[in-house]
Amino acid sequence: MPAQRLDGAALAQTIRAQIATEALDVAKRLGRPPGLAVVLVGENPASQVYVRNKVKACGQSNIHSELIPLPANTQEAELLAVVAELNARADIDGILVQLPLPEHIDSHRVIEAIAPEKDVDGFHLSNAGALMVGRPLFQPCTPFGVMRLLEHAGTTLRGAEAVVVGASNIVGKPMALMLQAAGATVTICNSKTRDLSAHTRRADVLVVAVGRPHFIQADQIKPGAVVIDVGINRLPSGELVGDVDTTAAMSVASAITPVPGGVGPMTIAMLLENTMTAARRKTGVPA
Ligand code: GUN
Repeated sequence: MPAQRLDGAALAQTIRAQIATEALDVAKRLGRPPGLAVVLVGENPASQVYVRNKVKACGQSNIHSELIPLPANTQEAELLAVVAELNARADIDGILVQLPLPEHIDSHRVIEAIAPEKDVDGFHLSNAGALMVGRPLFQPCTPFGVMRLLEHAGTTLRGAEAVVVGASNIVGKPMALMLQAAGATVTICNSKTRDLSAHTRRADVLVVAVGRPHFIQADQIKPGAVVIDVGINRLPSGELVGDVDTTAAMSVASAITPVPGGVGPMTIAMLLENTMTAARRKTGVPA
């Protein structure tokens, strides 16, 4: 039987429709809509697409958004000044600085400059630490979206073997913490792990986030596994593919996320949810 397709686009749509209603309620309480500021430095084409999608999604969910495009030669001090201004604005609940930043800017310094209570990416050290000790203020959007998708699919995590391939601060590391918090036994691998297949073949839940097209083949997947493909890679032909050879994996896995239409839309839905959480906290009603 071919694997079930985990339709992130459909679940994200449901979540966004719910947020659209809740945002109107929060707007009534605050006297203004929830607000998200998105800062984009430079002209990375992939980042431009992501940012455009994030801003568009806000509009459809009754969340005010502001896109702040800055030239690629923006100095770190100028970017820090923009962040400081956004920190001080009462009508902005969430701040997102799109990564990667140009090399002359220290992204850690910029992330640490964002007020933790507006850090809807969950990347600030205090938010990363809060997640590590099991008291997250905001959970990073991509792994948060993966958890929602797994929950929706009814995947058992307690006692399961989960393997995460990729150890980035944005996806792999927070993903591992969230899976562990849900009761899974977690192994974190990377693209250089010796005998990677020995690990991936043990995985009841396999999350792949390395950014390499078709990095994981069907014979590296345990029969019946749930496979989450976080990668979005553009082939020279223009085709978008994930980090997993999805077509072949369909005959081995029990469930798998498509690319596109799997994890990507869930990332955006969780960004909206985190922005709502930030705004709701200001209403005095527990978020
Ligand atoms: N670049 C790739 N993913 C993300 C994300 O979730 N947030 C930000 N700020 N930048 C990214």
